[in-house]
Amino acid sequence: MNVTPSKKMSLFQPAIFSSLKTYAKQQEKISNQSLIDLSLGSPDIPPHDMLLKSMSELSKQPTSYGYTLTGSSGFFEAVARYYSRVNKVVLDPETEIVQTIGSQEGLVHLPIAFCDPGDYILTTNPGYVAYAAGITLAGATPFYIPLDENNGFLPNLEEIPEDIADKAKLLILNMPGNPVPMAPSLEYFTEVVDFAKKHNIIVLHDAAYSEFYFSGDAPISFLAVPGAKEVGLEINSLSKSFSLAGARVAYIVGNAEMIAIMKQLKSNLDFGIFDPIQETAILALDHAEEITTPLRDTFAERHKILMKGLQELDWEIAPSNGGMFVWAKYPFEIDSVSFAFKAIEQTGVLMVPGTAFGSEGEGYVRLALVQNVGLLKEAVTRLKSLSI
Ligand SMILES: Cc1ncc(COP(=O)(O)O)c(C=O)c1O
Repeated sequence: MNVTPSKKMSLFQPAIFSSLKTYAKQQEKISNQSLIDLSLGSPDIPPHDMLLKSMSELSKQPTSYGYTLTGSSGFFEAVARYYSRVNKVVLDPETEIVQTIGSQEGLVHLPIAFCDPGDYILTTNPGYVAYAAGITLAGATPFYIPLDENNGFLPNLEEIPEDIADKAKLLILNMPGNPVPMAPSLEYFTEVVDFAKKHNIIVLHDAAYSEFYFSGDAPISFLAVPGAKEVGLEINSLSKSFSLAGARVAYIVGNAEMIAIMKQLKSNLDFGIFDPIQETAILALDHAEEITTPLRDTFAERHKILMKGLQELDWEIAPSNGGMFVWAKYPFEIDSVSFAFKAIEQTGVLMVPGTAFGSEGEGYVRLALVQNVGLLKEAVTRLKSLSI
């Protein structure tokens, strides 16, 4: 049989993550040096005991196995309670929330709901890889706002040409960000709301790391900004905040008209999330403070140790008060892909090259805070011996 991919498939880039990982595994065998994997942002800390218990008990019930179709009303109400308590944002559980199968699924599908070929979608370079995949699926045209260290890695809306802004349908932002962990602020989000109103652009804020902050107050929710609900949405996930990445449960909240369109799209795409996962998500959201406080402390300590260690090696670290990553400019004249491969070869430390997230990531690597403090210290010790 002659199997040929569609023309669209040529637009999807093979991910560098898997070739790096394969190479790292090969090197581990050859060198006898254990791998320190700082590549994927998959939480290494198990879910809270109450969540594990809930999953195992509910999974034993024979009645748990029907189609769920959409989120349960209990889930929507729990999201509304969580947003009201944690973000001071009031949501109507019936009209202002849609459930997604992890935020990846929501992010990749959402552009289809709002954008036609020829529409522009604005997002950042570097940026999380799902945004580009969603833009490609929708056949829209990306315009990337460079993240520049000189303005604190904040996407500068003034850099978007007027004619592009007028043709744009969607703006995707992510703070604290991946791979660049810049923080959101009321001032910045207010600018975003004004910009969106002026150009009639839907804003989608990806708040996947909203519970990961190292000190002070939680990062502000986009929806907490006056006028935000008129122009947009926030997508949030239980993957990182509650160590439930494999359970695949997330949600989009905000503008009721936009949520209705997303619900219509979703009703054509899938038949909902396993009921025990939805019930466990309710438990997680209702106990968010108890569950996330120790996680936050752990990630804050990891961040401090890795940042200090790398700074002592003259690496420049993007300032950060949250997220799950260190965004680091290494002090060597070498492109980021070659650097990542050399680091694996010489040290067994696996990092993601900055260009995996866009051309502006050249000269940087992303390190995920997904190993314990001992291994992070060991990673720094090994990186000290790099010879480029
Ligand atoms: C910024 C950002 N958004 C979304 C996701 C997807 O997370 P999930 O699909 O597990 O909710 C990730 C995962 O790494 C991420 O970094």
